[in-house]
Amino acid sequence: MRNEATRETPNDVASDQGSAAGPSEVSLKVARYFPTLVFSVEVPDSEHLNARLIEAIYAERERDKAGVRKSNYRELGGWHSHTGLHKDTAFAGMVKHVDAAAARMCRKLRYHRSYRLSIGTMWSIINPPGGLNRAHIHPGCIWSGVYYVQAPKNSGGIEFIDPRTQNLMGSVKYIPDTKRPRDCWKKVRYQPRAGRMLIFPAWLYHSVAPNRSRARGKDADRVIVSFNLSQQRR
Ligand SMILES: [Fe+2]
Repeated sequence: MRNEATRETPNDVASDQGSAAGPSEVSLKVARYFPTLVFSVEVPDSEHLNARLIEAIYAERERDKAGVRKSNYRELGGWHSHTGLHKDTAFAGMVKHVDAAAARMCRKLRYHRSYRLSIGTMWSIINPPGGLNRAHIHPGCIWSGVYYVQAPKNSGGIEFIDPRTQNLMGSVKYIPDTKRPRDCWKKVRYQPRAGRMLIFPAWLYHSVAPNRSRARGKDADRVIVSFNLSQQRR
């Protein structure tokens, strides 16, 4: 992206459509800078991958029932694994898909070819009904991601919060009951869908709504694998 900010005079931003045009017909140009990118990947043939992951994740929970305490609430039943799952061969299939997405991102974003985006940490979370994750960021890395292994209906959307905190202070009045332009959103929600991966900036605050699934037993669990990506020299 070229730095155009310095040459954005008022005439560049708003130009008149001709002498006959009134003030309400002014043509506005807009330039978007500093975007917040959320990548999504639909993993092909994810049913097979997910079946193997479910087996591996519940086996890991059985081995380490307490798990770790992070953004999850143990008292609400939320289980969070240790963060080294990428070193476990049972998660090799997951790692392969993350690596493929990361490689595509490196090319798209023109990252230095001597570096790869590699997984620094990978973990799983099981949220049973009632489970949720408080708002948090992932310090110490560049990108973070989540892959939905099992996501029954109403099992809790992920919400991303506008990182421009000054924008949250705004007192703009919008037309009621209409969808705001995307540029004016202050939060974005994604409903989880098994087989989908989201990759977002590690600094982007996000939270997960309570699981309100009415499915029975383990079918009601919201199960994810999450990971952090950093640049490593090849
Ligand atoms: Fe997170």
